[in-house]
Amino acid sequence: MSIQLDHIIVPAPDKRASAEFLARILGLEAGAQTGPFIPVTTGNGVTLDFMDADGFRPHHCAFLVPDEEFDGIFARIKESGARYYAHPDGSGAGEINTRDGGRGVYFTDPGGHAMEVLTVPYGGWAPASVSG
Ligand SMILES: [Fe+2]
Repeated sequence: MSIQLDHIIVPAPDKRASAEFLARILGLEAGAQTGPFIPVTTGNGVTLDFMDADGFRPHHCAFLVPDEEFDGIFARIKESGARYYAHPDGSGAGEINTRDGGRGVYFTDPGGHAMEVLTVPYGGWAPASVSG
């Protein structure tokens, strides 16, 4: 499949605060401002472009993270004071989930977006394809 997500715009009441919050949690860097955006680029090259806005509805962004990085990310979520919970309906406050044999947690960013980190994709890892 040749089509890849390149970037999305994430509205925020304070783009710098939201970009730096997410970058700190995930162990990434917020980039220099480009036009109206503060970019945060993930390991697969997708950029979240934070932009000042108001009157928006919360979005949901999920990040697949290595299992060995989950503990550090979860510690930084807790240190941040952000609300975090195990399930997408907001239940399981203060807990993580173990969906599909991995670990995951949702947390609310400064703009009210529902962010998620998970160590195993929904439905589990796809079986390795066999070529030949
Ligand atoms: Fe999700």
